[in-house]
Amino acid sequence: MINNDVLVGRTVRRATLADLESIMELERAGFDPAEQWAAAAWTAELTGDDRRVVVAETGDQVASDQMADDHELGDQVTDARIVGVITVQVLVPESDLLRVVVAADQRRRGIAGELIDAAVGLAAADGARWMMLEVRYDNDAAIACYGRAGFEQLTTRDDYYGPGSHALIMKRYELAAEAARGAGQAS
Ligand SMILES: CC(C)(COP(=O)(O)OP(=O)(O)OC[C@H]1O[C@@H](n2cnc3c(N)ncnc32)[C@H](O)[C@@H]1OP(=O)(O)O)[C@@H](O)C(=O)NCCC(=O)NCCS
Repeated sequence: MINNDVLVGRTVRRATLADLESIMELERAGFDPAEQWAAAAWTAELTGDDRRVVVAETGDQVASDQMADDHELGDQVTDARIVGVITVQVLVPESDLLRVVVAADQRRRGIAGELIDAAVGLAAADGARWMMLEVRYDNDAAIACYGRAGFEQLTTRDDYYGPGSHALIMKRYELAAEAARGAGQAS
């Protein structure tokens, strides 16, 4: 969930259009050209009423609960670098995890897990009861990451991404508990 004060040196916050270029850098570095989303696609994510986009940002000055209390969301980070992004669609009672990417030099530090928790908290606060996603069957890192985040494999879709490139459909149930925990924090 969105909770700036618990992370030293890293914060998780709602994204704005001002983050588009940083998000595009992550996109270009994180996916093969054929799989990359265009700036127009990310603009639609950042402006869509049913979308929730969250970024993880590293910076020098996220250091204490007091600082988080004294500043508006995002203001306390200087020399910030966006190191991860997630977007979800919320169509109550369902939500869908559409994209998550973390900078290559920042992986295996729990950033995707934090982004997923934040997105789940926002979706749950809006009333979503479960979250779905599709992932390429050979994307071992993402499948492991989603499993760690509580997603279970539901089914498969053959040739979903093209001939021979199948998808796993995964689902995380019972977001309601997240809604209770995230009440008042997710914004
Ligand atoms: C998938 C991705 C988002 C994971 O980001 P991350 O910040 O490294 O993930 P986390 O650090 O939160 O990992 C959480 C858990 O997922 C699993 N995991 C993550 N990457 C893994 C890998 N390469 N191999 C095996 N398990 C992995 C581990 O269980 C990990 O916990 P651990 O580090 O304590 O063992 C990242 O690899 C990425 O950006 N990939 C390219 C874009 C992509 O494929 N996105 C998904 C499809 S949209």
